[in-house]
Amino acid sequence: MKYHEMDVEQVVNPRGLTTSDLITYIVKKHHVFGRNVIEKIRHLMSEMDHSLPQFAEFEDKAEAFFTELLDHFDDEEVHVFPQVFEAVEQRGERSPSPKHKMMIMKVEKDHVRAETQMKFLIEMSNSIGLPAQVVSDAFRELEEDLEVHMELEQQELHRRVRMIYQLSP
Ligand SMILES: [Fe+2]
Ligand SMILES: [Fe+2]
Repeated sequence: MKYHEMDVEQVVNPRGLTTSDLITYIVKKHHVFGRNVIEKIRHLMSEMDHSLPQFAEFEDKAEAFFTELLDHFDDEEVHVFPQVFEAVEQRGERSPSPKHKMMIMKVEKDHVRAETQMKFLIEMSNSIGLPAQVVSDAFRELEEDLEVHMELEQQELHRRVRMIYQLSP
């Protein structure tokens, strides 16, 4: 599907958007923010003192998390969102679909994992006393946005699919 132009800052209530607009909003606002803040964190980390105790381990864990999260965004944009859009658009014309149930379960499992990894990295960045807390502050920015982002996907987008196919939560 095509993600059209949208001024996301003008959107007051994303939950009131049509499914196509809601998907565009999530991509243009939250996926863009996530990708930008990851680039910012990578840059901040590259400028840090690499001889700090545990720095290498922290960097590895952070990089593994970024790779997974960016894959998750790509997976949603390329596979999940087009299927959600199609499902919601064709309401009532299809019987309940195990495919959609599996897809939503997988995405929500990714979300739980992202939350856990995020908490772990914030704790680790605090415990190794990264300079000026800039890195942990940036991680916190990402965590805050991810919370709103994943809630919007689960409580609005996935809820619409569950309703149509009468899937249990
Ligand atoms: Fe997303
Ligand atoms: Fe997601």
